[in-house]
Amino acid sequence: MEVLKNKKTLQDFIERQKEMGKRIGFAPTMGALHKGHLSLYETAKKENDLVISSIFVNPTQFNNTEDLEKYPRNIDRDLLILKNSGLVDAVYIPEVADIYPEKTESQHYDYDGLENEMEGKSRPGHFDGVGTVVEELFRQVKPDNAYFGEKDFQQLAIIKKMTEKKQLPVKITGVPIYRAENGLALSSRNQRLHEDRKEVSKIIYQTLVKVNDWFRVITIPEIKERVTDVFDHQQGMVLEYFLIADEATLKETDFFYKDRQYRAFIVVVVDGVRLIDNMHLD
Ligand code: PAF
Repeated sequence: MEVLKNKKTLQDFIERQKEMGKRIGFAPTMGALHKGHLSLYETAKKENDLVISSIFVNPTQFNNTEDLEKYPRNIDRDLLILKNSGLVDAVYIPEVADIYPEKTESQHYDYDGLENEMEGKSRPGHFDGVGTVVEELFRQVKPDNAYFGEKDFQQLAIIKKMTEKKQLPVKITGVPIYRAENGLALSSRNQRLHEDRKEVSKIIYQTLVKVNDWFRVITIPEIKERVTDVFDHQQGMVLEYFLIADEATLKETDFFYKDRQYRAFIVVVVDGVRLIDNMHLD
């Protein structure tokens, strides 16, 4: 596996691959790799000649410096995971100046309103930061296909929108949420949770499964009441939001139409760690 530590080495590498006509699959990350990332690489490997990942903790997508500082980083462990996986051909680990040659600040994006829902409300500016780094990485890595987890479903929708609006020649693929055996969605942040808290956090997934059973049987306000009630009875867990939204617009809804697709979204804070999850409703 090639470890590409700056823009120049990346560019030389990409040029060689393009000359050989290789089809590039790309999965950008912020490190703290887990099995969820491996599932991105597995999908990418099936559909491309070459898989590239990146590890870059993007400063512009954090809302405060404390969150940025606390973000788990362990590059040696990540490199070991990548090498042992045998799934990734090259990893790009840029410096801040490789991505932000001038000011470390975001560009502004219009995602047709997708940015104003859910995470956009609780994390102002976050999606401008995501758009900025992903656009720049796409321009440098020049992938044919790029892979993002459905755990951050709103991020996936926003990246699809940005790619379409900027007419970037990249096909975006969403990869289903990778769950631990108890149902907890894997994330870099939940590595900060103690094992016993991870175990009780399975209630988040179990609640989404129940929501899917309740959907189209009772009303959405009734579902919301039941979900609020579940978390009112969980010690040390705070329900930040739960809602059902139209899958295409991400707008919250209190009623549903037969011909539209819907998804439940939830954020629960457990011991100060923000756990995010979602589920398609059928
Ligand atoms: O999902 C992530 O890890 C990040 O938001 C991403 C897409 C790598 C951009 O920094």
